[in-house]
Amino acid sequence: MTTQYEETTAARRHELELGQFIPLHYHFNMLNDVHRTGAFEEAIDLVVPEGGRVVELGGGTGILSFFAGRRAAHVWCVERNPELATVATQLLEENGADNVELVLADAALWTPPEPVDVVVCEMLHVGLLREKQIQVLAAFAENYFERHGGPLPRFVPEATVQAVQPVEQDYDFHGYVASTPFFQDGNVEQPRTLGLADPSVYHELLYENELTERICWDGTFTIAERGNLNALRVITKNLLAILPQEGRSVDWLMNYLVVPLAHPINVQPGDTIHVSIDYDAGAPLASFAPDVKRVGFAPR
Ligand SMILES: C[S@@+](CC[C@H](N)C(=O)[O-])C[C@H]1O[C@@H](n2cnc3c(N)ncnc32)[C@H](O)[C@@H]1O
Repeated sequence: MTTQYEETTAARRHELELGQFIPLHYHFNMLNDVHRTGAFEEAIDLVVPEGGRVVELGGGTGILSFFAGRRAAHVWCVERNPELATVATQLLEENGADNVELVLADAALWTPPEPVDVVVCEMLHVGLLREKQIQVLAAFAENYFERHGGPLPRFVPEATVQAVQPVEQDYDFHGYVASTPFFQDGNVEQPRTLGLADPSVYHELLYENELTERICWDGTFTIAERGNLNALRVITKNLLAILPQEGRSVDWLMNYLVVPLAHPINVQPGDTIHVSIDYDAGAPLASFAPDVKRVGFAPR
């Protein structure tokens, strides 16, 4: 039986987990991430109609609302962290974004006073872990539909695609071996990570569809390289704007997450590995704990 004290501290711990509460100095990294900020700028320029209405859920420092405000007539920038709301108000004013209205509120509970064309929401983390993108957008869509009816606005991002790859990770640090989860830049060579098989897509979603938290997949990999399968690499790509006429999308490839396995497996080309994934979007990193086993041996 859990006491009220334990329940309260568990809820408080969850609130303070990175992702639920992102300190201001961490926002500099987001602003400074050219792959992220540049892709959002391009997508917002392409998707927001001239003179339109836009909502941003989780505005942070306000940069995405600023981009939207360059084309839209009005932008509601919703942020629930009072410190960030204060900073964003000041920054938006300094940047002349006088058509962006800061709303201090929980985005899962707030709806715009009138229908909007576009909803921007970047509560994203690799694996869709940690942050509540799915929960917030599911609640927003329901509240919006109740208040304004359909159709729903266009979402930025429009879709998320996730893949997983068996890898051998070098966890030797000057002779000290420490297998820990870590993040890895997907845009640069990673010589200490050896891909043992091609990545496989384990999860796809379109934000205009009904959203579910549970992410569940079973799949097999045919090993292509000899090595020690001691980690899985999670690859998350967000399609910020899908442009069928141009046959392309504006994408943001997030940092990879590399998760060590409790029981590494020495593999050879031709071995078959079964991976079973089951976790909830928005849950802590540790909830990504797939079951990995060899189900077929190449001839030895
Ligand atoms: C990853 S940051 C992105 C910030 C900003 N959109 C950007 O792109 O730089 C997510 C932001 O969403 C805010 N947030 C998280 N949950 C929220 C909620 N339920 N309602 C409103 N804001 C929320 C966080 O405080 C944080 O500022």
